[in-house]
Amino acid sequence: MSDKLIIFDTTLRDGEQSPGASMTRDEKLRIARQLERLKVDVIEAGFAASSNGDFEAVQLIAQNIKDSTICSLSRANDRDISRAAEALKGANRARIHTFIATSPLHMEKKLRMSPDQVAEQAKQAVRFARNLVDDVEFSPEDGYRSDVDFLCRVLESVIAEGATTINVPDTVGYAIPELYGNFIKTLRERIPNSDKAVWSVHCHNDLGMAVANSLAGVKIGGARQVECTINGLGERAGNCSLEEVVMAIKTRRDYFGLDLGIDTRHILAASRMVSQTTGFVVQPNKAVVGANAFAHASGIHQDGVLKARDTYEIMRAEDVGWSANKIVLGKLSGRNAFKQRLQELGVQMESESDINAAFARFKELADRKSEIFDEDILALVSEENVQHGNEQYAFVSLSQHSETGERPQASVVFSVDGKEVRGSSDGNGPVDASLKAIESHVKSGAEMVLYSVNAISGSTESQGEVTVRLQNSGRVVNGVGADPDIVVASAKAYLSALNKLQSKADHVAAQG
Ligand code: KIV
Ligand code: ZN
Repeated sequence: MSDKLIIFDTTLRDGEQSPGASMTRDEKLRIARQLERLKVDVIEAGFAASSNGDFEAVQLIAQNIKDSTICSLSRANDRDISRAAEALKGANRARIHTFIATSPLHMEKKLRMSPDQVAEQAKQAVRFARNLVDDVEFSPEDGYRSDVDFLCRVLESVIAEGATTINVPDTVGYAIPELYGNFIKTLRERIPNSDKAVWSVHCHNDLGMAVANSLAGVKIGGARQVECTINGLGERAGNCSLEEVVMAIKTRRDYFGLDLGIDTRHILAASRMVSQTTGFVVQPNKAVVGANAFAHASGIHQDGVLKARDTYEIMRAEDVGWSANKIVLGKLSGRNAFKQRLQELGVQMESESDINAAFARFKELADRKSEIFDEDILALVSEENVQHGNEQYAFVSLSQHSETGERPQASVVFSVDGKEVRGSSDGNGPVDASLKAIESHVKSGAEMVLYSVNAISGSTESQGEVTVRLQNSGRVVNGVGADPDIVVASAKAYLSALNKLQSKADHVAAQG
């Protein structure tokens, strides 16, 4: 049995299935690059057959990411599998992940197929996929609620057909750690050829136990691959969270005795990137990546940490990307200090000109805000990353007036294809007036399905980070903007969402 635990990230596939979390092709590539920096072993880039957008995203990632294995999901049929293989053509290492449901409930009510038909289709699918690529993963969907005898039969036959990884999903998050661990153990013990495949766990978080179940699958069951997502993103209550499962294995190496290929210093930047791209805010008390994960508020704790950090800290903040250097940057900080802080935060920019552009924005911010915290830099860099200078709409300036008893008024100047225009409106509040001012000119007709403001760092001096989710003709996009003035941040976020609605080519349609 190998001592390495394979980390399979499915943020771009299962994570994206979360309502409202759909990402454009370019956003997916940016996240894939960050996953590559993290040294994730396998990136599930999408579900190639589900839409042209997904096909293109898998293809783009397969062509650009060279260090991780790139995987596409596919149902257990020839068409889906061929589409997956086609999209993965440019990859250094390609994996096809094919699945079919095996629980009595799913077979009878959803697939309307008999167990014999499902067993036969699973076998045929793996055989077909193995003719196209060497690396084939098979998942019995709703595997944990399947009949164990039937599952043994199906899994034995797909391993015989050449499946190299067997993944056992707890699709509906029903499992309990000990039971799930023993379930994997039983399958491995009862299936005669089980040693010919790597065993994998895939847990959903409906009862808040996805990480615990995954760890039990590893410890008790002997699984050597964990499927997970950044920030635990995923449908309903989400998937097993990558940062939590990775840091549990690393911090408790004494117990698990397993090695990981992950460079954990890039975790925080990945978390910020996924949160900003999808508009799914990370709760402050979230393990590892939450704003309070390494903050010590009580006097007793602060005293202990100052005397010896390990009194209250089981992990080092800098090991997951929080900066150890607590010198706060400000307007006198130079380009080198800024660049070094980016490195400490695990942010790698593509070119010197990207660093220069980010530094210019840093200086602009430092003129308005005396202390620049790590969170400000991460927001600024993410904003930098999403703006390429070729968007249709760009923010220029804004003025607004609000007074108790008066209806707020706003006037926003923004550019449309490089030409400045002005929109004016009143509204229920200054944010409402500003967004209506933009809309009075653009007339997108989009429906706003989410508006959220988050203070990036603690105080009222903080930048506000605004997420706007717009829906139009069945498409859902997220726009993010950050600024010390939350009305400006809101206008930037709205324009960023409009840009995404406009860029039809970039659109990745929601999966069915
Ligand atoms: O949760 C699930 O069952 C899945 C499979 C498609 C692997 O995501
Ligand atoms: Zn899943």
